[in-house]
Amino acid sequence: VKRIGVLTSGGDAPGMNAAIRAVTRVATNIGLEVYGIYDGYRGMVDGKIKQLTRESVSDILDRGGTILGSARLPEFKDIEVRKKAIEQLDKFGIEAVVVIGGDGSYRGALALTDMGVNCIGLPGTIDNDIASTDETIGFSTALNTVVDAMDKLRDTSSSHHRCSVVEVMGNRCGDLALFSGLSSGAEIVITSETGFDESEVLDRLREFDVVKKKNHALVIISEKITDVEIFARKVSQFTGFSGRATILGHVQRGGSPTPGDRVLASRMGEKAVDLLMQGVGGQCVGIQRGEIVGVPIEEALNMPSKSRKDLQNLFDRLV
Ligand code: F6P
Repeated sequence: VKRIGVLTSGGDAPGMNAAIRAVTRVATNIGLEVYGIYDGYRGMVDGKIKQLTRESVSDILDRGGTILGSARLPEFKDIEVRKKAIEQLDKFGIEAVVVIGGDGSYRGALALTDMGVNCIGLPGTIDNDIASTDETIGFSTALNTVVDAMDKLRDTSSSHHRCSVVEVMGNRCGDLALFSGLSSGAEIVITSETGFDESEVLDRLREFDVVKKKNHALVIISEKITDVEIFARKVSQFTGFSGRATILGHVQRGGSPTPGDRVLASRMGEKAVDLLMQGVGGQCVGIQRGEIVGVPIEEALNMPSKSRKDLQNLFDRLV
């Protein structure tokens, strides 16, 4: 392999730039040429491709977002679209690609590998929803952002005997909710794993107010479960707390990556280049019990999602 490409795809995540930098630096330092593919698979199809040097990735380690831009391209499922992408790669002499993104991006990487272009996936998503890795690039930073917001919401909620109902991202994965609940001392965490029984949650809130005499309550709820504005109104109606909804939204996707994300992204970027140099494709990089590993994408996509029963039990024992 002499020339590789790198792209970011799907929702951006803090630390993607650190991964781009690691891939570029590790590869160029062993004499490879690296090409940046802009705007994800869309840019691959359209030929938005430019060479990256060690200088082009200077001063990006600490920057959120992705200098390459990102996009979602559902049409990449279509073989004709992928053929166009491969034509572009051939035009630039790109023999292998590092794809930084979530599970949708992994599917594209696997399909390209099956068509003869070795691809390695790196888990870049704030959701932490990739079963083949203990942690994804961006999760630590997003978690910090959520916890920072929770700490602030506690200040104001306890000053007004309020209940803050906070919606966090996660795309059907409850990790951002559960980990931020544990870190911020929230009263209630609702995820797809815990389920949502509205009247039971209202009962528990009444108990926090009347029996436990709490001045505030923080409820963290994963996106796509219920309308938090409506639920906050019900809190005001049916409990002693006055309810307020906060949807943290895309704030969670931005910001300078934590050192944890920077190191993780650097280690994973290095592994991706090493795998490509060994002629490996169709794998994704993960961290498992502290070790950086390569896992076949097919296997990764079929793994059951991580159970959080233990952490949920811990949460229940702490409230
Ligand atoms: O996958 C990352 C993520 O931020 C999810 O948490 C969320 O559901 C989704 O992307 C939002 O997507 P978009 O930025 O396209 O609205």
